Amino acid sequence: MLSRKEKYNIAVVGATGAVGRRMLEILEKRGFPLDSLTALASARSVGQKLPFMGSEIEVKELQEDSFKGIDIALFSAGSSISKNYAPIAVNSGCIVIDNSSEWRMAKDVPLVVPEVNPFALSGKCEIIANPNCSTIQMVVALKPLHDQYSVSRVIVSTYQSVSGSGQKAIEELENQSRNFIDEEPLENNVYPHQIAFNCLPHIDSFLENGYTKEEMKMVNETRKILDDSTIEVSPTAVRVPVFYSHSESVTVETKLPMKAHMVKDVFSQSPGICLVDNPEKNQYPLAIDASGKEEVFVGRVRGDLTRENVIHFWVVSDNLLKGAASNAVQIAELLIKPQSI
Ligand code: A2P
Repeated sequence: MLSRKEKYNIAVVGATGAVGRRMLEILEKRGFPLDSLTALASARSVGQKLPFMGSEIEVKELQEDSFKGIDIALFSAGSSISKNYAPIAVNSGCIVIDNSSEWRMAKDVPLVVPEVNPFALSGKCEIIANPNCSTIQMVVALKPLHDQYSVSRVIVSTYQSVSGSGQKAIEELENQSRNFIDEEPLENNVYPHQIAFNCLPHIDSFLENGYTKEEMKMVNETRKILDDSTIEVSPTAVRVPVFYSHSESVTVETKLPMKAHMVKDVFSQSPGICLVDNPEKNQYPLAIDASGKEEVFVGRVRGDLTRENVIHFWVVSDNLLKGAASNAVQIAELLIKPQSI
């Protein structure tokens, strides 16, 4: 249990990574009440300086004793680090907010999107899981529809940016794009194929059922967050040559009657959602517009051509922010203001 204080000691594990750097930015931007901030990464990064609050903080090596005196640790250094170090952090009296997939489906671990299920934090919290980035933006949009019309089925295709695979993938897309234009040979290390000017229907490893791990995260995490194991989710996850922000085409079927104009009204009044839906002016959510913003952008809301109670929409959000860093910091904000849960 977190003891109430005016200011808190926070650690970011994986502070040099694509998400970790955004965690520092968002803690600063949202004015999180900090007593201290500890930036942790591998031995490779020791001494590296990261910009913070108009100054710089020095990166320290993640070690077993890194969590002494820390109130909340935000982890974003991959599953194996979370598996090994989250229990160590908890034993040091620290609450862990983990961005990896390691603990998400564990029974006693709340899987939280603050706009959707803040009440999941009302019990004993030691490790709290941040959901998968594609799931977060989808459930922010699904939640108000589920509350009003009871969602029965979701079909989703994702268009996921390379930043979801970390800093090295951002560099791979940059290098391949430059070399492609310059007619130089292309090198791929992060992805199994060229990502520049290409789309890969393959994110994370394939499972026996023909789906990828990324796709099954969307199935299982959606049900856990919405606390409804009956919702049918059929996902296809695709990596596209975009640097930041994930886009998704979502089809939703509901048990209760609804029409596109009713859904637009619901979206326009829902927390965390920004409705951008003026096709006559060519206005709809775009990855380049969503990047650097914390909201979930929804547009292209339209009814199905042949079926009742089925709508389609397009949802875009910055995968490093709402899909990771912002969601984690929002969870930390709920922890320090328990009256808001
Ligand atoms: P480092 O930069 O020292 O390798 P990304 O997802 O953008 O690739 O970032 C991964 C983050 O996880 C980085 O901050 C990286 O630190 C960190 N990390 C990777 N391996 C370890 C490790 N063994 N111990 C601590 N941090 C690690």
